[in-house]
Amino acid sequence: MKKTTIQNVRIIDIPKIIDQQRRGNLCVIENNVLPYSVERVYYLFDVPSDASRGGHAHIACHELLVALSGSFDVVIKDGVNTKTISLNKPNKGLLIVEGIWRELENFSSGAVCLVLASDIYEETDYIREFPKFLKSKT
Ligand code: TYD
Repeated sequence: MKKTTIQNVRIIDIPKIIDQQRRGNLCVIENNVLPYSVERVYYLFDVPSDASRGGHAHIACHELLVALSGSFDVVIKDGVNTKTISLNKPNKGLLIVEGIWRELENFSSGAVCLVLASDIYEETDYIREFPKFLKSKT
C-alpha cells in the first residue's frame, strides 16, 4: 500500500443499456468490469449535507464507489497529493485502490453511494488516523 498514489485511482465506465422503448436505463456490473471479485456490497444514504464519511484508508481492500442517486464529492489523498472527484452519474464508478485516504462530503439530498468492496469487513484493514496513514506511506 506504500506505493499507491492518487494516479492509481480511476473512473470506471459501467456498461449502460439504454432501453429502445424508452423504459429507462439499466447498468450492469459483472466481474469483468472490475479488477477484483466483489466480496461485499454496502451503501450510504440519508447522509446530511454537512456530514463527512470515510476518513480512512484501507491496507488491502479495493472499493468501487458509485453515486446511484444524487451526488457527492470524494477527496482522495496519497500523502503527497490531494484530488477531489465529484460523482453524480450511476454509470461512472470511482475505483479506489488500497493505501488511499478518502473523505466523502457534500452529499446532495437523496444521494446514495453504492460501494463494491474486494474484501469482507475487517476493522484491522482500516487506517483511521491521518498521521498514521502518512507514516504508512513513508
Ligand atoms: P465507517 O467505516 O465509519 O463508515 P464510513 O467510512 O462510511 O464513514 O463505518 C461505520 C460503522 O459501520 C462502523 O461501526 C463500522 C460499521 N461497518 C460494518 O459493520 N461493516 C461494513 O462493511 C462497513 C463499511 C462498516
